[in-house]
Amino acid sequence: MSKPVSDKILLPDGAMLPRLGLGTWFMGEHAANRAEEIAALRLGVELGMNLIDTAEMYGEGRSEELVGEAVKGIRDDVFLVSKVYPHNAAGAGLIRSCEASLKRLGTDHLDLYLLHWRGTIPLEETVEGMEALVASGKIARWGVSNFDTPDMQELLRIPGGNHCAVNQVLYHLGSRGIEHELLPWLSGHKIPVMAYSPLAQAGTLRKGLTENETVQRIARGHGATPLQILLAWSIREADVLAIPKAGTRQHVEENAAAGKLVLTSDELWQLDDAFPQPSWKVPLDMI
Ligand SMILES: NC(=O)c1ccc[n+]([C@@H]2O[C@H](COP(=O)([O-])OP(=O)(O)OC[C@H]3O[C@@H](n4cnc5c(N)ncnc54)[C@H](OP(=O)(O)O)[C@@H]3O)[C@@H](O)[C@H]2O)c1
Repeated sequence: MSKPVSDKILLPDGAMLPRLGLGTWFMGEHAANRAEEIAALRLGVELGMNLIDTAEMYGEGRSEELVGEAVKGIRDDVFLVSKVYPHNAAGAGLIRSCEASLKRLGTDHLDLYLLHWRGTIPLEETVEGMEALVASGKIARWGVSNFDTPDMQELLRIPGGNHCAVNQVLYHLGSRGIEHELLPWLSGHKIPVMAYSPLAQAGTLRKGLTENETVQRIARGHGATPLQILLAWSIREADVLAIPKAGTRQHVEENAAAGKLVLTSDELWQLDDAFPQPSWKVPLDMI
């Protein structure tokens, strides 16, 4: 058997992150789905997936509003993450974005605030702004998203850049580019990876994974679904947590159960064989 990983990730400042959290992209978009989406998020928190990831970009604030409703009365049980657009990521714009997110979320602080992706604003200005938000108590810590290794190296050369708490990047069985360089680099610097789209979203790419013979055989062996195998696989490394988005309670239950699956070394080897990691550096995949 491969070594079971701890069900938590410890940040250097002592905060504990669950290995599975809850994504929210495209939530809050349709009134008909609202009650079920809120119930799904609340159930996820109850089942231990108590990290919720949102962004000012998602539905231009509608996802944050829905999350605000979902965390009413349970805010302290949740590790709340939001993200700032790159063009807002410095100075007064950053403060305005953060305050607007806090208002929509109905809270006075974020547990983690991420730069959604790298834009044209110099990183120094973003770091300075993020550090000021920490000092003012509006955010507990900050991190980045969609940063490849050279971006991370540049960030850590900036004063205060080493306070970056996580890097949120695309990672699933069909997209393993980060394993070649970025993942080991981040592990070496004790910066966890927050894996987004761990279920490969929906569509043909995902179909290629869930209909794969190896994935299906391993799923049958565990009495699990192929998507549960994908999710268990995505968090097999000690420094990776994943944030699947699920809009229904049934999907949340299945995802939470996947967090308890332990893949054997032989199964991991079979998955490596079916979906090899690249043996050379490839550019970071992004959505
Ligand atoms: N930083 C970034 O640039 C970035 C980019 C993309 C995503 N993200 C974050 O990462 C989160 C997750 O990524 P994602 O939303 O792109 O894709 P994902 O989590 O890989 O896939 C979401 C899709 O999987 C379905 N699903 C979830 N659980 C399922 C289950 N047990 N059985 C069957 N279908 C299931 C969902 O359907 P239902 O909704 O019907 O349950 C939805 O269609 C986002 O929501 C967002 O918070 C960040």
